[in-house]
Amino acid sequence: KKTTYTIPVVVHIIHNGESVGSGTNLPYAQIESQIRVLNEDFNRTNADKVNTPNVFLSRAGSIDIEFKLATRDPDGLPLAEPGVHRVNRNAMGWSAPPFSDNYIESTIKPATIWDPTKYLNIWVLDISGGLLGYAQFPESTLPGLPASGEGEAANTDGVVIWYRAFGSNYDASGNPISQPFNLYPSYDRGRTTTHEVGHFLGLRHIWGDGDCSKDDFVSDTPVASAPNYTGAPCTFPGPNSCNEGSGDLPDMFQNYMDYSDDVCMNLFTQGQINRVETVLQNSPRRQELL
Ligand code: ARG
Ligand code: ZN
Ligand code: CA
Repeated sequence: KKTTYTIPVVVHIIHNGESVGSGTNLPYAQIESQIRVLNEDFNRTNADKVNTPNVFLSRAGSIDIEFKLATRDPDGLPLAEPGVHRVNRNAMGWSAPPFSDNYIESTIKPATIWDPTKYLNIWVLDISGGLLGYAQFPESTLPGLPASGEGEAANTDGVVIWYRAFGSNYDASGNPISQPFNLYPSYDRGRTTTHEVGHFLGLRHIWGDGDCSKDDFVSDTPVASAPNYTGAPCTFPGPNSCNEGSGDLPDMFQNYMDYSDDVCMNLFTQGQINRVETVLQNSPRRQELL
């Protein structure tokens, strides 16, 4: 069976010169654990899909997509560690982390990016300001996205993830792994990258970044007035911040595009997946990724 979408991925590990596997120079197994989660979440093969509340089950969506650690570098040469580009910031003459987003955008990304029409670029580093990550939206005619020529620069395209929120301490069955990575407790299941790649593929936050009148341009995510920061035990129902009239539902804090803790997240909706497919099929700068 042929996968409908294959996205080659390069993970730029921006480190301080530590040996591979320590500090900011993450072990390969941690990187692999993140790519596995990304694939599980978009394909809805995540073990915790059983936690999706019944009222939302008919809305859960999946896409036949494979995020694949790149086998070749931009010159076509095979990579010793597939999909991984390790960069020592000392050798580059860069300042010490934590890095500001301005420094990441103006210095780190342009110096390290691989052709964004061929790879999904993921930068993993120590970000300042308590940020878990951020992403660049695709250019698109869809509402809520920058129009052609109005997006951010091509040489900064991709997603940035805090090194302590990249990867998962849980296996594909949802059990804790025996040698956990140095992940921050609430963000130790790889959902920051799922969320940011959601943005990268055109998804907005489910509360529409505003009150009940603001939308995420997806009809099957209940309207919400603010982010939910729900943590374990992820009790359903949580808040119901907007009354949508007939068929009103509680806020979908289990959605990857909310701000809940990783343990409480377990779905994208079909409407979100439809939006992602539209982006994959139409956004010019991604064409060669298909
Ligand atoms: N704050 C980040 C953003 O808006 C990511 C939030 C991710 N949440 C999580 N549970 N990992 O893009
Ligand atoms: Zn976000
Ligand atoms: Ca509601």
